[in-house]
Amino acid sequence: MQLLILGGTLFLGRHLAAGALARGHSLSLFNRGRTAPELYPEAEQLRGDRDGDLGVLRGREWDAVIDTSGLDPRVVAASTALLAPSTGHSAFVSSISAYGAFPDEGLDEDAPTAADASEDLAGGYGADKAACERVVADAFPGRSFTVRPGLLIGPHDPTERFSKWVRDLAAGGRVRAPADRDQPVQLIDARDLADWILGGAEQRRVGTFNATGPAEPLTFGDALERVREATDTAAELEWVDGEILLDEGLEPWDDVPLWLDLPRHPELRGFMAVDHARARSPAA
Ligand SMILES: NC(=O)c1ccc[n+]([C@@H]2O[C@H](COP(=O)([O-])OP(=O)(O)OC[C@H]3O[C@@H](n4cnc5c(N)ncnc54)[C@H](OP(=O)(O)O)[C@@H]3O)[C@@H](O)[C@H]2O)c1
Repeated sequence: MQLLILGGTLFLGRHLAAGALARGHSLSLFNRGRTAPELYPEAEQLRGDRDGDLGVLRGREWDAVIDTSGLDPRVVAASTALLAPSTGHSAFVSSISAYGAFPDEGLDEDAPTAADASEDLAGGYGADKAACERVVADAFPGRSFTVRPGLLIGPHDPTERFSKWVRDLAAGGRVRAPADRDQPVQLIDARDLADWILGGAEQRRVGTFNATGPAEPLTFGDALERVREATDTAAELEWVDGEILLDEGLEPWDDVPLWLDLPRHPELRGFMAVDHARARSPAA
């Protein structure tokens, strides 16, 4: 398959590019050449800027495009307008943030998405992702695969949103964690997601899918215990009242990864408890 990735060199895109090459596809990468431009010399390197400099994509044909870097509907509209007439299939990497609000557990793909920033707990990111999804789906009718990942983890993650726990527990000693042990946690390894997206591009999968895991419900307590076991150190988890961490100025999620502080933020109840049955169904 002749495959184009819009992006491809930071995190998820990087795993997609590696996977595409390993699966024997002929790969083109479109990016500005700022982030790890030395990666994947065996791929065709197309340099440009999504915002206003798409010239190298003009007049080209691909079997499929995977867009990992689309954040702004205006910018996404420009690349889709150029690519849709000559590209067989489109996969757009959105986010579960596209829903904007998460008052209930079990949100599935038919739930409404955020119409604008006022409906979006992510301050506009989710509403923009939802608008990008619509742009792509309209440009590729019947040929569009929309992926809404939950929290991504794994090698090359530029954030500390999971790896901080791994590092802290691997260092041994006592590691404090808020005692909201029953809080649900969902996450997906970017390598697994990349593999599944590539399979979807190969099969020309169509539709919208929440893409997170694990298959069985996971709690915050179990997640941290499993990290502790996997790091194989004598680290001890000390479960403390969340109030203590808040009093020290620590923010849920940003400073204390995976912690949503649901007692004080019930609006996030469904954020790490979405329904991912569609992606796990045999047809997907
Ligand atoms: N992290 C999470 O937990 C999470 C959760 C849900 C959804 N997501 C979504 O998953 C995707 C993750 O993407 P990623 O960052 O890992 O993708 P990536 O494809 O690995 O990296 C981003 C790529 O975009 C390129 N790029 C950035 N700005 C550009 C521009 N103006 N023109 C052309 N290329 C540009 C970068 O290269 P240059 O800098 O060289 O241009 C880089 O190759 C995002 O869409 C994100 O919204 C993430």
